[in-house]
This record gives sequence, C-alpha cells and structure tokens, in this order.
Amino acid sequence: MTYRISSLEDYHDTYQRSTVDPEAFWQEQAETFSWRKKWDQVLDWNFQEPRIRWFSGGVLNITENCLDRHIPTRGDQVAILWEPNDPKEDAISLTYRELLAQVCQCANALKKLGIKKGDRVVFYMPMVPELAVAVLACARIGAVHSVVFAGFSAQALADRVNDAEAKMIICSDFNQRGAKHIPVKKVVDQAMAMGCPSVERVLVHRNTGDEITWTEQDVWWHEEVPHQDVTCPAEPMDAEDMLFILYTSGSTGKPKGVVHTCGGYMVYTCFKFKNAFQYDEGDVYWCTADIGWITGHSYIIYGPLLAGATSMMFEGVPTFPDAGRFWEICEKHKVNQFYTAPTAIRALMAKGNDWPAKYDLSALKVLGSVGEPINEEAWHWYDTHIGKGNCPIIDTWWQTETGGIMITPLPGITDTKPTFASYAMPGIQPILVDADGNLVEGNDVEGLLCIKFPWPSMLRTTYGDHERCRQTYFSAFRDLYFTGDGARRDKEGRIRVIGRVDDVINVSGHRMGTAEVENAINEHPAVIESAVVGYPHDIKGQGIYAYVIVDNESDEIAAEIRSVVTREIGPIAKPDKIQVVPGLPKTRSGKIMRRILRKIASKETSRLGDVSTLLNPEIVETIIEGSKEA
Ligand code: WTA
Repeated sequence: MTYRISSLEDYHDTYQRSTVDPEAFWQEQAETFSWRKKWDQVLDWNFQEPRIRWFSGGVLNITENCLDRHIPTRGDQVAILWEPNDPKEDAISLTYRELLAQVCQCANALKKLGIKKGDRVVFYMPMVPELAVAVLACARIGAVHSVVFAGFSAQALADRVNDAEAKMIICSDFNQRGAKHIPVKKVVDQAMAMGCPSVERVLVHRNTGDEITWTEQDVWWHEEVPHQDVTCPAEPMDAEDMLFILYTSGSTGKPKGVVHTCGGYMVYTCFKFKNAFQYDEGDVYWCTADIGWITGHSYIIYGPLLAGATSMMFEGVPTFPDAGRFWEICEKHKVNQFYTAPTAIRALMAKGNDWPAKYDLSALKVLGSVGEPINEEAWHWYDTHIGKGNCPIIDTWWQTETGGIMITPLPGITDTKPTFASYAMPGIQPILVDADGNLVEGNDVEGLLCIKFPWPSMLRTTYGDHERCRQTYFSAFRDLYFTGDGARRDKEGRIRVIGRVDDVINVSGHRMGTAEVENAINEHPAVIESAVVGYPHDIKGQGIYAYVIVDNESDEIAAEIRSVVTREIGPIAKPDKIQVVPGLPKTRSGKIMRRILRKIASKETSRLGDVSTLLNPEIVETIIEGSKEA
C-alpha cells in the first residue's frame, strides 16, 4: 500500500528522508505497485539536456495497477461514480470489476480498429464515463492518449491532432452543459475538413442522440465496444514509455504537448493523492475538474484509481439547474473530499450564502483548491460556508508539467493559511531565485519559483520538440526546473504562489498564452497589431485585456475580434476587454512594453514608472485616456 503520512512528525521525517536520499525514497514507494519486471535504475537525470528517467527498465501497465490489482480486494467497490448534467437523470456507478471489463472491451475495440502501442489517440469528449473508460483503454494497449478540452475550437483541435499525428479521434455526438447541447462531433468534422491526414478513424459515442453528419471514417461506439470480449491482456510498458500527451499554453504562440510517461507518473500521482487528501477507505472523493486538463487526468482518473478510491465524475456545470448543484451533489453522494478551482468558488460565492446553507455538507472532511491563486475572501467563504470551519483547505500548487501536486498543506497534519500553498510535499525541493539565478535565502522573501531535483512525474519532453522543453523549463537557471511562477516565502517558511511571471495568463484556472491570443486576434483582417495582457478579474482571477491597432475602426470590431478568437482557440480565450489604440508602447528595439500595458489594464496608472526610454512615450497618455472607456 502507498504510504500515508499520519502526523506532523511523520511529515518532517518523511520529507527529510525524501530529500536526503530521493532515490531510496521513491524506490520504496514504487515497490508498493505491481510490476511485471523491476527497474534496472531508479533515476538517471541531467537537466541540461534534459534527460529524466525514473525506474527505467521496469515493466508495468498502469491499468493493472488502477484496476486488476484491486479486483481481489475491492472488485465490488465503486470506482467511478458518475453524476449527470441533469439532476433528473440517474447517477451511474461502475465498480472496479465493471470498470475493468469496460476498459477491456474498449481496448479490444481500439485494437480491432487498428490502434497499436505508441499510436496517438485524441479525445474530444464531454465528462461521461466513456471518456474515463477510453482513456484507460488506451493505456491498457499502450496507445498514447491526448485529451483536448471540448471547449476548444475546431482549429485548436486540428492543431493538436496534427502535432500529435493522431491516428484516431474519440468524440461524442453532442455534449450537454447546463441547458445546452453542444455539437462536439460537428467540431471534429470541421477539424477534419481543415486537414488531419493522420486520422484514420473517428470513434463516436452516442451521448444525447441528436442528429449528426456521418462520414466514412466514423465508427459508432455502441456498434463496436459492447460486442468485444471483457478481458484484454495489458500491454507490457517500459516505465519510460509515453503514457499521454497533454497540450498546454506557454509564452510562445503554439501550445506544447507535455509528455508524461508510465512509471514515475503512476508512483507520484498515487502517493500525492493519498497524502494530499488523506483519503480513508470508503471515502467518496470528488474533483470537479474537466479531464481535458491535467487535474482531471491525475486527480479524477489515475491518482484515485491507483489508490483504490471512489472517484466522482460530474458531467455538468456548477450553476445548472441552479447555483446549489455542487452542494446538492455533495449531500446526495456524501462527498468526503471536494476539490475545485477558485473560479468556481468565487462564482458560487457571488450567488450568495443561501445555496450551500440548503444542503447537508457534514460528510465533507477536506476541501481542495487548484489551478490559480485563491484570494483571501474566497478562501474564507469556502472555509465558513462549505467547510463550516471543520475542513482543512488544501491549496494545492502544481502544473501540467509537474504531473501531480507539489506544494500543499497536508490536511489535519500541517497548518493552513489563507492564500498559501504552504509546504513542499515529500520529494519536492522548491527554491526561490532572483532574475540572475541567485538563490533567495531566508524567510519573508520573494523570488522566482524553481524546483531543485527531479521528481518521478515531471514532464520528460514536449512532444516532437525536445529543444522547446529544454528552452522553456531548463535553460533559464542551471540545474533547476523553472516553473514560470513567482512566489513568496513567509516568515515561517510557507510558500505562496503569486502567479505567472511569463507571458501566460490564468483565466478561470485555464492557462492562456498571450502570444496565442494575439495570433488569433491578428487573424482579423482589419487588425494590424495587438498586445494582450492579464488584469485582475473578480470571478475569473484574471481577465484578458487586448489592445489592438486596426486599419479601419468600426462599431463591430470588438464583436468581430471576439468571434475570430472563438474560432481560432475557443470561447475561453475571448478577450474581456478590447481597446482600440493608435499605437503600442515600444522600446527602442521595437519590443512591446507589456509592463506598462498591464498597469493600465489593472488601473494602476499612478505607478507606471519611467516611460521616457520608450520609442513613443506620448502614446502612454493616449492609451490611459482610451482605457477609461474600454
Ligand atoms: C497556477 C494546474 C497559485 C500556476 C494544476 C501554475 C496556482 C499554473 C495554483 C499551472 C495554486 C496552479 N496557487 N497558482 N494553488 N495551482 N496555479 O498547468 O500559475 O493548468 O503555473 O495546472 O496554474 O496550470 P496548469
């Protein structure tokens, strides 16, 4: 069994052990899993290349650890508990035994449709049980899954499919979100029409039954999957074989495919799940993230299933049919651990205290927050109105690239402090450096957050472009992984992650690259140049502010730009504010001074600093004037 820390003293001892001899520590954790063959070497690493290999030579299949391994002890326990969008429909529960059978059927169907070890399969699906089943089916046969959030546009989907050279897309007919039916398959058709030459098959799951257009590559899920055998041998995988690719935004235009491998990811996500949530046998655990993001991968599917937990999966949205939906679900399924994003908390907080007050939330033991900094007001509301002052809040800091939770309080073990992710998990050595890479020591200080030593679930590469991985994460500071975040260490040594220091904005917990949004805006024929920055937003955490230079301004320009961005990326990237400007503040070398634009967008114009070194200092006043109307 994966080790679970049980006291403060235990945490300190474990932490100490894990940093003095990380290899011995992780080897001990790895031994709690089932391997076909033990590894030859625990760790082989070099951050300069970067080369990171954990448990190499070890042979395993992660689904045997998520499923088969649990059958003798918990075959009839619910593995996935699914709650539909519409509360009038029934919940579905899949036991470990049932889930294994469905995964095997799907795996056999994938094989029959020509999918082999190493092939990439892209998902574009709603939060239905079939998504979890098919993700695990890929892992069963060694195919690499790449789940694309079903809110992305056809263009964004096609870009990802082509980058991954995916052989198959798995989608639904329609997606249900609140009162709406969203045509998922149609988006796939549009992506295919844009050109996805690697795709041989589209496997379509019938979700709503609304009519769709049928093309020759399409195969119905219900005509293939349920007819397959309920057993399927698990493909033996090297610990360092690819498990999945997940695309995420960075500071340059194109999203990058973060690559995770089988062995290290398994060991790490399970350990962090058990410890961060202090999961007890029989608990019902619920993470509200979408499986299109890393949180859904690690903390709806892999972490909980590896730990033998009951993991809830929810199809809908927090405000449908009303703003009590989350709390109603917590009451109905007696949820013990609840994990969500600050954006959702702020949105529900804005709907008033009466909603949570209507429901019995007494089963809750631990509340979690993830994806963006949680502000103090939201933290207190969560604590008071959801936890009733009895549930420790774990503010978990981590990233797509880190694979699992890195910095968090341990509930009931370490203390908690609003807005602080607080303490490094075992095996994690966070440090702060200044812009020149000098170590920022002591407490009550700020710096750039870096991690000192490899941990098992860190990214291995960016798909098809290893140099980009090196440049982005390993070139800024020698022998350190650079997170892209700024952080503060308080007087007692707790860490507070303040936010991105690169050109990435965090909108409702979703990462958006400013360059990516600018590229999309520039697709509008009237746009000459644009600059995008983040600004504080009450609900979303950060909003998107776009400054655009256009060649003929019309009344419709803002609406048109929003629709271009929706087409290019998806509605999540739509700018909240668009200001037409006659020019952008630039340095003498022609670089846009984003610092100034950020200040103007945040209405901090009294602290602009020196603008005299700009090529065009006079533009600043004009932009400030114009911003009053944006
Ligand atoms: C931010 C989500 C403050 C951070 C798991 C990071 C946070 C980015 C926190 C990763 C937190 C995540 N406090 N900021 N608890 N959690 N972030 O890849 O800027 O979608 O770099 O992974 O979200 O976002 P990603």
